[in-house]
Amino acid sequence: MTATKEPALPFTARDRYPVMCYPMPWASPDYPAIASQMGLGSPAPTPGPKAMYMHIPFCQYLCGFCPFVKYKQDPERIRQYLVDLKREIDNYGATPYFRDAAFGSLYMGGGTASILEPEQLADLVGHARSVFTFAPDAEITLECSPITVDEDKLRQVAQAGVNRVSFGVQTFDDEVGRASDVAQDGDTSRRVIGWAQAAGIDHISIDLIYNLPGQTAEHVRSDIDSALAAGVKQVTMFPLSVMPHTKLFRDVNERKVAGIGELDHELELARVAAEHLGERGLAQTSVPDFSLPEVTYRHAQLHFTEFEDLLGLGAGAMGTVNEYTYVNVAELKRYRELTEQGLPPINAGQQTPESERPRATMAMGLRMLEVKRSTFVARHGVQPEDLFGPLLTELTDRDLIVVDDDGVRLTPTGTLFGYDVAKAFYSDQIKAVGQKLAESLARKRDVIDLELNGSHSGGTA
Ligand SMILES: C[S@@+](CC[C@H](N)C(=O)[O-])C[C@H]1O[C@@H](n2cnc3c(N)ncnc32)[C@H](O)[C@@H]1O
Ligand code: SF4
Repeated sequence: MTATKEPALPFTARDRYPVMCYPMPWASPDYPAIASQMGLGSPAPTPGPKAMYMHIPFCQYLCGFCPFVKYKQDPERIRQYLVDLKREIDNYGATPYFRDAAFGSLYMGGGTASILEPEQLADLVGHARSVFTFAPDAEITLECSPITVDEDKLRQVAQAGVNRVSFGVQTFDDEVGRASDVAQDGDTSRRVIGWAQAAGIDHISIDLIYNLPGQTAEHVRSDIDSALAAGVKQVTMFPLSVMPHTKLFRDVNERKVAGIGELDHELELARVAAEHLGERGLAQTSVPDFSLPEVTYRHAQLHFTEFEDLLGLGAGAMGTVNEYTYVNVAELKRYRELTEQGLPPINAGQQTPESERPRATMAMGLRMLEVKRSTFVARHGVQPEDLFGPLLTELTDRDLIVVDDDGVRLTPTGTLFGYDVAKAFYSDQIKAVGQKLAESLARKRDVIDLELNGSHSGGTA
């Protein structure tokens, strides 16, 4: 009897790093020229509502698995940072480009945005509202680490206008959580979700990580069931990345932590999660996101589906304004100096060359699982096949995409490898930039670590 052979995987590795923007910022800024490169001297060319992101790069507890750049909490630093952030808001708000622009979303992320005191959050949101115009139904998200909120704080946050929260739950399972250095236990996560509901915050989203040490398919199903039982409406599923400079990386190398699955286990858990979420009525709306049908996630829609500007504010924030994509400086002192000089506090950025714009539409659009033909034609005046014929054929033959009258969309296998497929549309030049950026970010973490006055990112405080 011949054994049935599993089909070969379409990729030998799986890209876990999200498509956030395209092309990635790479050029060193010519500061006096940035404002004119962005076109800040004239009103925005499109009237559609824009998205706004504010980065709060501080954490109370530095989770052992987390590679993101952040600083250990320090009240004085946070106070100063908010002064600088409000100055950056003022600087953009004073430009003709943003003076009359409307925003459809504000996303406060981190680090840990919920580390701010309720009064600080209310002041920040109020300041943004006093400088910019927000749509009456604007989505205002606060990213929360469960250990930083209580019932009263969530009530005050809701009063400040926050109508969507995203909790970094990671897992509800205490044994799995302990092995991965998740800050809170499952009961704490359940409790804060209940408090957010009681505060009247309707849209509750959580992050779950899969392929954590020792995690099985049953754990993943159980995490999803716990989330839905608690009243969560949207779930973001991240595959674990074990990144250099994290405590988890060291623990794995020193064999203190075991049980992180290879690619086939990771893929099995991804399939289990998608299937289980589907059975529970949540549809996949992007490579990482699953939502109940009545839920829209406006912030992602604005940026990735409607290709509206994303005004990224704060140290380390990324944004795209008028086809100029940038990342802000992460170092707090430099961030302050640049905002004090009235300059956009950018570390790297450039205008997207015309030749790269259709690639941006494909790469960003496929993060949301599909690119509508009508959108592509409206943006570029040609059909996707006219520019990407051979690539579309190759990806179709490999069962990664479907191309039809509606447009281009990921197949189930393509969705599993969503970022690999999206990044197949990157130009060679941008692939090389991505590679260099990843290497330099890995190096820069050492610099950031030294700036932490003795505390270290990626480890417990
Ligand atoms: C930058 S964090 C900000 C969220 C917030 N600080 C919190 O923890 O609640 C966003 C999410 O990234 C995910 N994340 C962090 N480190 C990760 C890793 N090594 N692999 C996969 N996902 C990770 C977690 O799910 C986390 O909630
Ligand atoms: S996952 Fe932990 S360390 Fe990373 S940003 Fe969130 S709270 Fe901070």
